[in-house]
Amino acid sequence: MFLSGLISLKSTLSLFVLLIAVGIGSFLYLTLNTDFESQPRTLFRSGGSDPLKTSISTENLNQIMNTARQAWSIVNNNRAIVDIQTSYGNGIPHHITDPFELQSWASPPTSYSSTINVYNLLKQRVVQFTYALQFTYGGSLDGQGAYLDRVTVIPSRISVAWGFTFNASIQIASVHNVGTRDDPIAAVNLELHYRLAGLNVVERTESFHVRGDGQYTHINA
Ligand SMILES: *[C@@H]1O[C@H](CO)[C@@H](O)[C@H](O)[C@H]1NC(C)=O
Repeated sequence: MFLSGLISLKSTLSLFVLLIAVGIGSFLYLTLNTDFESQPRTLFRSGGSDPLKTSISTENLNQIMNTARQAWSIVNNNRAIVDIQTSYGNGIPHHITDPFELQSWASPPTSYSSTINVYNLLKQRVVQFTYALQFTYGGSLDGQGAYLDRVTVIPSRISVAWGFTFNASIQIASVHNVGTRDDPIAAVNLELHYRLAGLNVVERTESFHVRGDGQYTHINA
């Protein structure tokens, strides 16, 4: 009698502990479900031409380079760490060292804001990350071309649930000419990598294509 009472108490307790463990486990377990609020996606059409194809044919004729940074972190252990003075890429003629030598930059910088949400197994949102993709476009050299400067991503809001670690970084994947030899248009492919760890780890990359004429595409949202 006493023994069976003890056993049932023990199994009730084990069940209880198991339920809590499953609960915490499901809370911490991430699914790959992400969604984007207020996605800007394609705001302009790229004129029906394949940007990659155009770049290959003109790449060697008129070199456009990123003379700023290639890769940097923007969120480390749930905190924004970006230094807007130095954390950006550009797309300017390879023989120019200072973008100030170029004229007629668009002002103010163009900015597109997006939000990434990540959910756990229980469909609870565990990360909300809002960032702005910014760039200055339209710089020209002796009246020719449309170049890019200060292409960057600025984190504006990071909200991460208990038990999770969120990191994000930026990479300037490529810079090329999508215009002509005589009238070059700079294009920059920029990648936002992010990584979130709970019980498991999810990683994703978002790609953006920005052009010196101001066109902007969010490639794989
Ligand atoms: C985030 O970065 C820090 C420091 O670089 C590292 O210790 C941590 O493991 C990273 N977290 C994730 C989820 O990648």
